[in-house]
Amino acid sequence: MVSSIVTILILLALAALFAWLVTRAWKSKRWYIKFPGVILAGLFTLVFALLTFAMAKGLYDLTRPYPVASVNVTIAGTPEQIARGEHLATVLCAGCHSQNGQLPLTGGNNLSDDSGLPLGDLFAPNITPAGKIKEFSDNELYRILRTGVEPNGRASFMAGVTARYMSDADAQAVIAYLRQSPPVEKQTPPISYSPLLTLLGGVGLLGINVPDPLQPVTAPPKAATKEYGEYVVRFLDCRGCHGPTLSGDALPPAPPGASNLTVIVPKWSKDNFFQAMRTGVDVTGHRISPPMPWKQVGLLDDVELEALYEYLHALSPIVAKK
Ligand code: HEC
Ligand code: HEC
Repeated sequence: MVSSIVTILILLALAALFAWLVTRAWKSKRWYIKFPGVILAGLFTLVFALLTFAMAKGLYDLTRPYPVASVNVTIAGTPEQIARGEHLATVLCAGCHSQNGQLPLTGGNNLSDDSGLPLGDLFAPNITPAGKIKEFSDNELYRILRTGVEPNGRASFMAGVTARYMSDADAQAVIAYLRQSPPVEKQTPPISYSPLLTLLGGVGLLGINVPDPLQPVTAPPKAATKEYGEYVVRFLDCRGCHGPTLSGDALPPAPPGASNLTVIVPKWSKDNFFQAMRTGVDVTGHRISPPMPWKQVGLLDDVELEALYEYLHALSPIVAKK
């Protein structure tokens, strides 16, 4: 945060410096200094002014309070609900909130490392009952999952996480699981955003998006259908890396190199897909490398994985424009 403020001040100073140089060049009697000078210094003024503006907007969006209404949930905590929540936590939360991709959710590695960009310290915290979640009521936890908004109104990193696309029932199941998961004392370094991350936020590339929590989210009935597969794609955020059309068209800070699923999966049989996601080696013998979370995806149960296959298999191939 401090480094972002310092960067903003430096950019502002540079914009002012070049603006001053524009006025200096303008006053020059020699045309070969005047015109190139005005154009060049003017260009730099513009670039630094735009960067200053984008950074300031990013800083504002990342720190301002978001007024989101509270919601009331009652978590029944039945054995079935807890089991469903545990399954979802493994598939959906463990990739970030655990160092080895497994439960318990004692806190993860620096997510900045995956992106290959200096984004800051982005450690997903310990969310066992001994960790971060003890600060939140069920309603507050539910609101964080749905919107990323903390009780103090700040949008946490979870505002960019698609956990909010889980159905109401699934989100509540996750809370039911978290509450009775084994408490583990462990601390991760505090979150800190780098100037680059602030800039990406300012130009709208972070996907900070605070939806209305009162909108109910329902899932289609769980079955091996395209519709359920679409639901899985949304809450597992395949698009976060594979792009809005799943053709590999994601922009930074998404990690580079995510495949064009619209070309690959339609050619695969269901068995090819299951093999790729459950063993990490696809039908051509290619070892699927990180950050593709195939281990997580492979943990989906057979019905979910088949639904995912049905959805992806039915996509029309999109060949990337060069
Ligand atoms: C893409 C990575 C990622 C995924 C997936 C993810 N989280 Fe997080 N989560 C984070 C990060 C990073 C933070 C720290 C946010 C901050 O302090 O700004 C966080 C914070 C939290 C917090 C504390 C909120 C706060 O404001 O400090 C809770 C609770 C939480 N996550 C729950 C979950 C649950 C439950 C899941 C699975 C349904 C999940 N997260 C999936 C990255 C992730
Ligand atoms: C964190 C980023 C990320 C997410 C999230 C992600 N992928 Fe990937 N995926 C990648 C990258 C990078 C590759 C390329 C890896 C390779 O081929 O070695 C890839 C490759 C693949 C491949 C092709 C592997 C091959 O054999 O060529 C499939 C299929 C795939 N992903 C499916 C999915 C599905 C389905 C989801 C959502 C459930 C998903 N991915 C979510 C990053 C991601």
